[in-house]
Amino acid sequence: MGISLVAKAQLGKTNLMAARIGCGLIRIGRNWGIDEPGKTALPDKSMVHHFLRGAVESGVNFFDTAPAYGKSEQLLGGFIKEHSDLSREMIIATKCGESSREDGTTVKDYSPIAIRRSVDNSLHLLGGHIHLLQIHSINLRLLDNEELLRTLEDIKKQGDIDYLGVTCTTPPEAVEKALTMGIFSTIQVPYNCLNPEMGSVISLAGEKKVGVIVNRPLATGLLSSKNEFVSDPTQLEGIRKIKEQIGEQDLTEYAWRFIFNNPSVSVVLTGTRDIDNLKENLRSITKK
Ligand SMILES: NC(=O)c1ccc[n+]([C@@H]2O[C@H](COP(=O)([O-])OP(=O)(O)OC[C@H]3O[C@@H](n4cnc5c(N)ncnc54)[C@H](OP(=O)(O)O)[C@@H]3O)[C@@H](O)[C@H]2O)c1
Repeated sequence: MGISLVAKAQLGKTNLMAARIGCGLIRIGRNWGIDEPGKTALPDKSMVHHFLRGAVESGVNFFDTAPAYGKSEQLLGGFIKEHSDLSREMIIATKCGESSREDGTTVKDYSPIAIRRSVDNSLHLLGGHIHLLQIHSINLRLLDNEELLRTLEDIKKQGDIDYLGVTCTTPPEAVEKALTMGIFSTIQVPYNCLNPEMGSVISLAGEKKVGVIVNRPLATGLLSSKNEFVSDPTQLEGIRKIKEQIGEQDLTEYAWRFIFNNPSVSVVLTGTRDIDNLKENLRSITKK
């Protein structure tokens, strides 16, 4: 693939210069993805700081968190405050509209009062500045919600948020609409060789110079060596079909190549919380 991490590129039309691989930080704050049986404990503060330091030192500068990711914002914010030498280099993206509850579940609330409360809390936790604020999991109805859009634009005018974006997991129509609205600088969508449906909307975003952030690059772990812990027949069948298509090629390397073959992809969020796995992913991605 030969992707360079040192050469950072402009994220859409923003003035943010991002490495093409970023870190998605759901797994530092809450269980997600595939874990080896018996190894499901969340990392503590020192493990998270070790991971984030290693990520920044490896050239990663884009970090994606959310109020819906348990303690993720709190842990990332603790790192930002304690490591001002490194955090100067970091682009911080978070979200609003969905938040975590004490019992580990999440709740959606896109009302102006909830959005303002959420953004104030994120700013407090993350050191007072957010480069990118994304509406978490948009749909067509939310994009018609004028009160929500006005609230976000007002919040941005206050100056602590640089850019607005959206994330979307549902079929591409909502993202297509978001691309026509002129409000959002980025979209964040799932995209991998098992779930390629967002490919055309990603290309459309590229034409419009909207930044494209890809999540679930390894299909929440199914395209990594962790798939040995999967027993769901539908998931196993998906992996079998890809393996049949790619023959002798390494599954994970193929998965990375698949994403980076789309020239409109700006940043890919690897969801690992393990520094060795992050380095392995970087090796796969930067391999010629
Ligand atoms: N709606 C939304 O806004 C939305 C939805 C989904 C995701 N996201 C964002 O996107 C990020 C990435 O998504 P994802 O977590 O699904 O990403 P992913 O990278 O597809 O999957 C992460 C899983 O893969 C494993 N993994 C990664 N690299 C590995 C390696 N080299 N060897 C073995 N296992 C490996 C991880 O385990 P280890 O940690 O043990 O390496 C984890 O179980 C999230 O953290 C979040 O920030 C956003």
